[in-house]
Amino acid sequence: MFEGSLTLLSLLLFTSLATADIPSEKQVLLAFASAVHHGNKLNWDLNISLCSWHGVTCSADRSRISALRVPAAGLVGEIPPNTLGRLVSLQVLSLRSNRLSGSIPSDITLLPSLQSIFLQHNELSGDLPSFFSPSLTTLDLSYNSFTGQIPASLQNLTQLSILNLSKNSLSGPIPDLKLPSLKQLNLSNNELDGSIPPLLQIFSNSSFLGNPGLCGTPLAACSTFPPSTPSPESSLPPSPTLPRHGKKIGTGSIIAAAVGGFGVFLLASVIFTMCFCKRKEKKDDEVDNNGKGADSARVEKRKEQISSGVQMAEKNKLVFLEGCSYNFDLEDLLRASAEVLGKGSYGTAYKAILEDGTTVVVKRLKDVVAGKKEFEQQMELIGRVGKHANLVPLRAYYYSKDEKLVVYEYVATGSFSAMLHGINGVAEKTPLDWNTRMKIILGTAHGIAHVHAEGGSKLTHGNIKSTNVLLDQDHNPRVSDYGLSAMMSLPISTSRIVVSYRAPETIEPRKFTHKSDVYSFGVLLMEMLTGKAPLQSQGQDDVVDLPRWVHSVVREEWTAEVFDVELMKYHNIEDELVQMLQVAMACTARSPDRRPTMAEVIRMIVELRQSAWESRDSNPPDERCV
Ligand SMILES: *[C@@H]1O[C@H](CO)[C@@H](O)[C@H](O)[C@H]1NC(C)=O
Ligand SMILES: *[C@@H]1O[C@H](CO)[C@@H](O)[C@H](O)[C@H]1NC(C)=O
Ligand SMILES: *[C@@H]1O[C@H](CO)[C@@H](O)[C@H](O)[C@H]1NC(C)=O
Ligand SMILES: *[C@@H]1O[C@H](CO)[C@@H](O)[C@H](O)[C@H]1NC(C)=O
Ligand SMILES: *[C@@H]1O[C@H](CO)[C@@H](O)[C@H](O)[C@H]1NC(C)=O
Repeated sequence: MFEGSLTLLSLLLFTSLATADIPSEKQVLLAFASAVHHGNKLNWDLNISLCSWHGVTCSADRSRISALRVPAAGLVGEIPPNTLGRLVSLQVLSLRSNRLSGSIPSDITLLPSLQSIFLQHNELSGDLPSFFSPSLTTLDLSYNSFTGQIPASLQNLTQLSILNLSKNSLSGPIPDLKLPSLKQLNLSNNELDGSIPPLLQIFSNSSFLGNPGLCGTPLAACSTFPPSTPSPESSLPPSPTLPRHGKKIGTGSIIAAAVGGFGVFLLASVIFTMCFCKRKEKKDDEVDNNGKGADSARVEKRKEQISSGVQMAEKNKLVFLEGCSYNFDLEDLLRASAEVLGKGSYGTAYKAILEDGTTVVVKRLKDVVAGKKEFEQQMELIGRVGKHANLVPLRAYYYSKDEKLVVYEYVATGSFSAMLHGINGVAEKTPLDWNTRMKIILGTAHGIAHVHAEGGSKLTHGNIKSTNVLLDQDHNPRVSDYGLSAMMSLPISTSRIVVSYRAPETIEPRKFTHKSDVYSFGVLLMEMLTGKAPLQSQGQDDVVDLPRWVHSVVREEWTAEVFDVELMKYHNIEDELVQMLQVAMACTARSPDRRPTMAEVIRMIVELRQSAWESRDSNPPDERCV
């Protein structure tokens, strides 16, 4: 496992929990600031060293943020989850005296090293978090608008020394907290009621004032008829040796806290769940593994067990699609050495090399909205449709509540995008001649047309772009990512590149059709013809989308300037260029009804190639192009 290269498991873990490197901590703070910061006090700037940022204290080795103190800085609004909660080494968080509202994301209170939380004097509301890091010593949430009860899970905070919840709207009884380290307590000015638990009676009355419903030492004695709620005291067995008793419980709850608190923290993470399920599932396998390796048998088995409703673990296994000859399981996959291939609109893609040398691409899907059943059906459909030389076949998938993985065959060379435009800072663009470009475009068209023909109207590609057109050594294109869009919630603010491939009618209400695929294909075609990325930046902020630019240039009749200078080297292709441009423009017609179907697109391309070769009096290339 530790042989220099990272395993898929460690990569998945790394990107889910422990993205602790300084650049990403910068991103985390910037994401936080962009959500809540409205002043101009912070010097949070990418070209300043993070450890010099206002309010940031780094750990001794300067590798991570250990404290964040941004009091009274005009922070307004809700703390987004998945921001501060990713500062894995954070010990002190002070955002007091701002105007933060909403609830506290639980990823923050669960940060494993967190010792002090100062969030007093804000406008936070909702219930108090139920789970806290067991290492917490100070919790000041006073002067906010929290409601609900004081969670009994505070009991678990054996290190807690200062607890200030005063000036909120907390209600209900005070739980019978046995906090061996507690030195200072303030629960005043809430709406608590019932009697004060014995172990807290050592605090003075100013810890409890301002709660009309509270009674008992150090306040006025409770009446014999308990006020509004039954007094917890009355249900307690008499215990004269309170201090010792408390101490005993204390030790016990250290373990409870360590195990419980940390267990929850891990459980929240994907991987723990996956490993856990995997182990259970192995056991299940032993029970009824009669050597039936066939996938249909597996599916049958899965169905049975789901309906029996007993085998929870079995529901979370790596499911191979029919006709797939791979022979590995989830554990093998997680143990495979892996590298990040890139972040796409649906999530991060990893290349994983298994022990037997099998190489696959694992995509970790985020923002999946489909339920399990819908997801499974879509996967089976994608698996069936993907059997075409111009499609990257889907091999397996994994679905659990927290994690969705899809496993594709690995295509070696690279993407059409990388060839056309290069990869910023990594690779130069590759000169592509006309025939190669046509071969790629035609193959891509065949792949998409196959998805439309086999999948029916239910299945669209939904995410056609040059980075999803992969090429093998001979520049045969293989289209990936088809059919996933139906299961995703597309974030409103997707990258502008992705948006520029989208047909106008799909922006709202975000519905994909075969015709919207044709539009995206038209944009891809324009990209091939112009050599320009789909969002062309002209100067600073003046961004033009490719179809609009092409349509406007052609309208003004300076067509030649539209084409990639690279293509101007070739003679005798002008007619073909112009005809292809016309196809591209037809595909990107504003009205979906006026766009051709993919089958028609293929026919047009084949015909124009044919006549171009005839007029040039030479042999046509292989038009099947696959
Ligand atoms: C950061 O870099 C930008 C451009 O590189 C520059 O304009 C800006 O002044 C820099 N900021 C600081 C604080 O150095
Ligand atoms: C909260 O209570 C603690 C202990 O009583 C005290 O030290 C702290 O100053 C209080 N916080 C505020 C905002 O009054
Ligand atoms: C709180 O206790 C002090 C003595 O410890 C007493 O003088 C004071 O009157 C009490 N306040 C209330 C409101 O009971
Ligand atoms: C508790 O907070 C209140 C304000 O809500 C304050 O008046 C009181 O002095 C505090 N008590 C202690 C023990 O800090
Ligand atoms: C904390 O305490 C509660 C109630 O005392 C208990 O049920 C729970 O298991 C403990 N652990 C966590 C993580 O809440």
